[in-house]
Order: sequence, then C-alpha cells, then structure tokens
Amino acid sequence: MEVKITKSPEETQALGEEIGRKLSCGDIIAITGELGAGKTCLVQGIGWGIGVDPKVYMTSPSFTIIKEYSGRVPVYHIDLFRLESIEETYELPIEDYFFGRCVTIIEWADKIESLLPPEHIRIDIEIVSENERRIKIYSHLSPHPSRGRIKERGTNYRAQT
Ligand SMILES: Nc1ncnc2c1ncn2[C@@H]1O[C@H](COP(=O)(O)OP(=O)(O)O)[C@@H](O)[C@H]1O
Ligand SMILES: [Mg+2]
Repeated sequence: MEVKITKSPEETQALGEEIGRKLSCGDIIAITGELGAGKTCLVQGIGWGIGVDPKVYMTSPSFTIIKEYSGRVPVYHIDLFRLESIEETYELPIEDYFFGRCVTIIEWADKIESLLPPEHIRIDIEIVSENERRIKIYSHLSPHPSRGRIKERGTNYRAQT
C-alpha cells in the first residue's frame, strides 16, 4: 500500500495523472471516500494521464451512472453514488465493462465490492482537513484488507455446506 498526502485539488489531479499514465486496457480503478473527498478530482487527473483531452473535466455522471471518454484507450467512468442496492447493478452492463477493452474507473466502489475482480486497484481517499487529503493506493501486490475478508467468508461458507 502506498500513502500520498495532497494539499490541493491540483495536487490530487496531478497524482491521478501520474496513476493514469501507467494504466492500460483491462485495468479497474475502484475509488472510495465520502462525499467531497476528491474522488472525481482524482478521476479527472487519471483521465488526463490516460490521454483524455486536458480541456475535458470528467464530472460525476449522476443520472447516467456510466460515461465514456476517449484517451489512448477508452475510459469508462462509473459513479455509484445513487446506487441503493447491489441488485440495481443487475440491470447495468457493469460486468461487461470489467472485461472490456477499456480502463474502468469506479467511484463509491465499496458499494459493489463483491463484484470486483481481485486484480483491481483500490484507492481510498480520506479528508484530513479542508484542503488536505490522505490517499491510499492498494494494488494486487499489496491488496486492501477487505479482499482477505471476502475470501475468508467464502471459505467458511463452503465449509458449512
Ligand atoms: N487536496 C484536495 N484534493 C481533492 N479535492 C480537494 C482537496 N482539497 C480541497 N478539495 C475540494 O474537495 C472537493 C472534492 O470534490 P469531488 O472531487 O467532487 O469529491 P467526490 O467526488 O469525492 O465527492 C472539491 O470541492 C475540491 O475543491
Ligand atoms: Mg464524485
């Protein structure tokens, strides 16, 4: 796990850009953090790092849930803020995106944790103060602790049947 502190929205965008430059088709970025944490701000930078036009500021797709952008590879931005239950995703082609030829970036990813393939990159954003954010980046090499818990639950369940 890597921890970064940013002290302005621009610094968060710059961090996103750095992350975005390293991404390629099939990558899934799962972002968590409360409202106003800076998820969309980070997403803008990630998009620029993937090659989205710098004049384009990706915004939360409130009513569509999924928005597509073009960079050096296609970018899908999913915002699950309004998702009330995991069942609602059954009507969405979300899993198609995971296996598609694109980078998928998900805000409020904790709402669909159990649907995420294990290889995703998880980013948790915490508000430290008005302009300061603590950004934790987990990859498949240093996984988020919840991943182990899900696996454990699965094992226990099988043991009981
Ligand atoms: N270090 C920082 N990183 C990101 N956003 C910041 C930072 N400091 C202040 N902010 C402010 O926090 C808000 C983040 O908004 P947004 O990215 O839309 O959050 P979210 O998508 O998590 O709800 C913006 O108003 C931004 O100006
Ligand atoms: Mg947002």
